[in-house]
Amino acid sequence: MTESAVNRVVLVGFMGAGKTSVGRALAAQLGWRFFDLDHEIVSRSGRSIRDWFSDLGESAFRREEASVAQELLSEDEIVLATGGGWAAEQGRLSRLGASTLSIWLEVDAEESLRRVGSDFTERPLLSRDRGVQDARGLLESRRTAYALASLRVDTNHKSVEDVTLHIIENLELSAVKTEPK
Ligand code: S3P
Repeated sequence: MTESAVNRVVLVGFMGAGKTSVGRALAAQLGWRFFDLDHEIVSRSGRSIRDWFSDLGESAFRREEASVAQELLSEDEIVLATGGGWAAEQGRLSRLGASTLSIWLEVDAEESLRRVGSDFTERPLLSRDRGVQDARGLLESRRTAYALASLRVDTNHKSVEDVTLHIIENLELSAVKTEPK
């Protein structure tokens, strides 16, 4: 890896946008480490996301999410897939430094629910009885915050490979160099 201006990528966006799958593929391409914020929270605390919400409440989860993300964002050469609510907090993306590239993986509410399927276990903000209207409302309330990301990639009807390739092409235009194949 040669020197690069960007040495950290943060993926943001709504549930089901593909942040984890794309993040893992992107990190492999870059030869960087991959972290999934929800996974880190669960493995460090031994508590599922659902239990964070039901036992301690959403604000406790948000505090933990902020603190774990801050710690991870001090690492170099990482790709971080955040949970859908992380970037929605005011100031999150505008406070990232120049060496961190934020990317919004955009997804429609309908496509999000289709991808999440019936797996609501770690997504207490979505559930079987809340329909597409709820998902749309939550997504709309976050759209302005997500839009502060440096790069926006529409993931609707696109494969993980297509989205990853699109990001790599954009990174190559920036100063990041991918590992030679
Ligand atoms: C949340 C998204 C989830 C998880 C939690 C809250 C949100 O992560 O952090 O259920 O507020 O949008 P994913 O975006 O990875 O599903």
